[in-house]
Amino acid sequence: MIIIFLGPPGAGKGTQCKVLVERYRMNHLSSGDCLRRERRNNTELGQQAQSYMDKGQLVPDELIVAMMMKEIEKTGVGAGVVLDGFPRTLGQAHELDRLLERAGKNIDAVINLQVDDNELELRITGRRSCSGCGAAYHIVFNTPRQENICDKCGQALVQRSDDTAEIVKNRIATYHKQTAPLVDFYQKKNILKNLEGNAAIEKITANLCRMMDEMITV
Ligand code: AP5
Repeated sequence: MIIIFLGPPGAGKGTQCKVLVERYRMNHLSSGDCLRRERRNNTELGQQAQSYMDKGQLVPDELIVAMMMKEIEKTGVGAGVVLDGFPRTLGQAHELDRLLERAGKNIDAVINLQVDDNELELRITGRRSCSGCGAAYHIVFNTPRQENICDKCGQALVQRSDDTAEIVKNRIATYHKQTAPLVDFYQKKNILKNLEGNAAIEKITANLCRMMDEMITV
């Protein structure tokens, strides 16, 4: 099964993707996590991506597509994969279609997590991410058991450098301009499933699982 998780920055894509990994044994490929790994390893791609990420802009398609094609091929599309944050432009979506066509595979569903802009700012500026495993917490909505320590791996929680109020505004504007057109693109292909995201994490998870169970039993 191939699932794309679409949604604005801070909508909760990463948070809900963890459910697909744990409950449905899917592989999770997050383009943002891949880029942050490249940055930590100080690779050429990481250095090239940094200036775009720090401004809340998208990394150019040619860099992202090359990176994600490698990641997808490494993971394989046979076992079940959820793509989080990719594709994010129509150009990326066409490249993904080409890759899947060559592999004889289809996208099963595009889950569009819908959240209001003012809620996104609250979620992102309050996010704290684990410096070890990348798990996301929130200072109000999703706190760790021990302050500033990851429940899962015990590493320190940090604020992502692009989670400041100013950069968040740019990320949201970038989403509306360059990524929102994908909603229409996948709607026309009849594979778009809207998921209400202005709710508590557990409620969204319950609705997501219902959606997944329906897809699996069809
Ligand atoms: P990326 O890392 O993909 O960031 P993003 O899309 O902006 O998404 P986030 O990771 O910020 O949010 P999320 O939706 O996963 O939310 P989360 O679950 O953490 O990309 C970063 C940058 O990399 C981009 O700006 C771009 O430069 C570059 N990039 C990446 N992919 C690219 C591509 N394909 N092309 C070009 N450039 C690319 O939740 C957020 C917070 O809210 C957390 O604190 C969480 O605990 C909390 N929360 C979650 N759900 C709820 C809820 N229901 N109620 C209350 N709080 C909640």
